[in-house]
Amino acid sequence: MNLIAAVDMNWAIGKQDELLFRIRTDLRRFKELTRDNIVICGRRTVQTFPGGKPLAGRINLILSRQHDLDIEDAIMCRDQDELFAELNRLNFEGYDDSQIYVIGGASIYKLLMPYCSKALITYIHASVEDADCHLPDFGRLTNWIMQDKSEIMSENSIEFEYRTYINPDPETWHI
Ligand SMILES: NC(=O)c1ccc[n+]([C@@H]2O[C@H](COP(=O)([O-])OP(=O)(O)OC[C@H]3O[C@@H](n4cnc5c(N)ncnc54)[C@H](OP(=O)(O)O)[C@@H]3O)[C@@H](O)[C@H]2O)c1
Repeated sequence: MNLIAAVDMNWAIGKQDELLFRIRTDLRRFKELTRDNIVICGRRTVQTFPGGKPLAGRINLILSRQHDLDIEDAIMCRDQDELFAELNRLNFEGYDDSQIYVIGGASIYKLLMPYCSKALITYIHASVEDADCHLPDFGRLTNWIMQDKSEIMSENSIEFEYRTYINPDPETWHI
């Protein structure tokens, strides 16, 4: 499975339940990559989406421990075991590993990072004060290797680049 995230120079990803930046080029890329595929996210991240709704045109797997919470147009998973059972079912229906995207937030990245073989990181050349959630710095993780890095792009004076990190030995979620 893949992890996809946008980070600042301190690997911060969010502040007060919001994204740090909205870079249209990057949001468009996110949409293209995840379209018709499977996205996995935490309940708090769904609340940041337009209207607090799951993303259209994708299979949304949402993690929440609240047994009475149902979100329309999403598959609710109450724990990692339920999530992996759903992924196995979707795998059986024909979706493969490369079509699964872990899209946040911090708690879900932390939970599923060991199972990801690829991380698509939008690295933003800025640092946000008082950010309250972070990813680990992939450059310091021994099991992740940077495979490539794009040129630096700019939108509304925000500079950013796309980085791809690879984890050659992910844990398996297949049952
Ligand atoms: N920069 C980026 O690329 C990016 C991407 C996504 C999100 N974000 C940011 O990340 C922040 C949100 O991250 P977060 O860590 O606070 O929230 P989150 O990971 O989106 O959601 C946390 C919630 O997920 C559920 N959950 C977590 N682990 C679970 C498990 N093992 N089993 C079942 N349910 C589980 C719980 O829901 P319940 O409380 O309902 O039980 C928990 O409260 C926001 O600021 C958002 O903007 C940034």
